[in-house]
Amino acid sequence: EATHNKAARGLRFSPVAPNTEDAVVAAEGHDQNVVLRWGDPILRGAPAFDPAKQSAKAQAGQFGYNNDYMAVLDVPGERDHQLLVVNHEYTDEVLMFAGYDPENPTREQAEIGWAAHGLSVVMTAEERRLGRLTAVPRHHLNRRITATTPFEVTGPAAGSKLLRTSADPSGKRILGTLNNCGGGITPWGTVLSGEENFNQYFANPDKVTDPTVKAALKRYGFKDGASERKWERFDDRFDLAKEPNEAHRFGWVIEVDPFDPDSTPRKLTALGRFKHEAAEPRLTTDGRPVLYMGDDEKFDYFYKFVSAKRMMKGNSRTAREHNRTLLDEGTLYVAKFTGDSPSAEIDGTGKLPKDGEFDGGGEWIALACGDRSFVAGMTAEEVYVFTRLAADKAGATKMDRPEDVEPSPRTGRVYIALTNNTDRGKEGKAAVDEANPRNANKHGQILELTERWNNPGSTRFNWRLFLVCGDPEDPSTYFGGFPKDQVSPISCPDNITFDAHGNLWISTDGNALGNHDGLFGVATAGSRRGQVKQFLTVPNGAETCGPIVQERRVLVAVQHPGELDGASVEKPASTWPDGPGKLTRPSVVSVWRRDGGDIGA
Ligand code: FEO
Ligand code: CA
Ligand code: CA
Ligand code: CA
Repeated sequence: EATHNKAARGLRFSPVAPNTEDAVVAAEGHDQNVVLRWGDPILRGAPAFDPAKQSAKAQAGQFGYNNDYMAVLDVPGERDHQLLVVNHEYTDEVLMFAGYDPENPTREQAEIGWAAHGLSVVMTAEERRLGRLTAVPRHHLNRRITATTPFEVTGPAAGSKLLRTSADPSGKRILGTLNNCGGGITPWGTVLSGEENFNQYFANPDKVTDPTVKAALKRYGFKDGASERKWERFDDRFDLAKEPNEAHRFGWVIEVDPFDPDSTPRKLTALGRFKHEAAEPRLTTDGRPVLYMGDDEKFDYFYKFVSAKRMMKGNSRTAREHNRTLLDEGTLYVAKFTGDSPSAEIDGTGKLPKDGEFDGGGEWIALACGDRSFVAGMTAEEVYVFTRLAADKAGATKMDRPEDVEPSPRTGRVYIALTNNTDRGKEGKAAVDEANPRNANKHGQILELTERWNNPGSTRFNWRLFLVCGDPEDPSTYFGGFPKDQVSPISCPDNITFDAHGNLWISTDGNALGNHDGLFGVATAGSRRGQVKQFLTVPNGAETCGPIVQERRVLVAVQHPGELDGASVEKPASTWPDGPGKLTRPSVVSVWRRDGGDIGA
């Protein structure tokens, strides 16, 4: 009760204790319902989910698998309705199909997989008195985007010879999106989504002959031989021996207009190609959008894109058409972080340096702008398509898996979740630095970046670590200076979002403390800065994704429940959400206060 009252506004709830329940366990006094499950019909004509009769055709009209990032948009004139946009990052075939044989997948299974990837756009309705949130199937704005939906390529690398294939000699039209992980909402009302671990879908990089392409495939983590899902058996484009450039057509940020179900979604080449997470854009002091982006891989980089053009306000046709081009022209930068303490004081244990903080300055190194490259030996086209290689040459700082990024709508400070990096400091790998200060970093950290003059268009910034995660009893942890006997343990920060009070909410992926992942809230300013409080936990094997914290509701996407070694349909590791005898299904969950009050009030 004491902790309950002594908390920042928006975080006044009793924290959930770490646990291993096969359930979504929310803070006391809250109710919950499942809003959408994998397979729920959302388009007209789609059948109810029946695992015994699942087909690609059915799946194309149903909610996809492994819900990740979520965006909620207000619908003009419809008070109790909101439009939900959800990423479907990847498929877990062993948990989807009874008797699945990973060596011999069927064509139907592969095609169900294609249809279960991508995004869903679904109208939702609030049941006022009950607090429940439900999906509105067959709404005219509902839409599925899958691994086969046509996309338009825009920006400086559109039409590049590196993007041309036999099916698309123009290099401007790509079928589908894959591994959509993080995302963001633009101030002009579109949704961004990052294509992350796209390398896993392609076979035979070892049979590619062009040495430049071959080296790049290696840098992007493509694995030799057959792919995990064997999709190359059913569509040549997944076989790099036949279509080496198809690999270059994934790894982009995509932009979708959720209010126009007939619009063609776009792949934005000006934002570079890597294992993308995406963020909500901020505007520069003169009104140009800036997008911060992590590349979620051990020792990879943190980027930003600064648009050359100002956003036009309003919803006129002219404004909409203009704003659609904002992320096509601008400068792509990568971050270099410099510590302000002597490197001898950064000893890899997490012990704070003498100045009491892991902090310092940094610079944004320009990589390319339009058709101009700033990287020696690379054309602009190559910088956009092989962005990791450009950043290697530019001397960017190798980070501990930069995942989600979120600028505080209150202060403009930018928060970066660095999930973990168990290879930090290993032989042949990068050593610790002040921004990534722990060897064999199992629990991750959150970095707070302040642009010079608080202008996101700046090329210089200051930074400090806000949280160094783990068990508060572990001396290598740091909770923004808050007393460590009053915080929840937290490990592997992944997706982050802000509430209306300016508190940061953090979902975790891969809790290395032996308990389940969950959602946490933490004040970023005031006397409670750094007081981490756990709001909910998720079921066996699941990751907490897509958190959205509204005044009266918290939404989470429970991703890959039951994904544990050796688990299958026959040997389930979770029975969430429908209980024994039913398939475990990734689902979106809504949580609200039983008494109808504001979250954390
Ligand atoms: Fe899909 Fe970076 O997590
Ligand atoms: Ca993310
Ligand atoms: Ca320091
Ligand atoms: Ca994630």
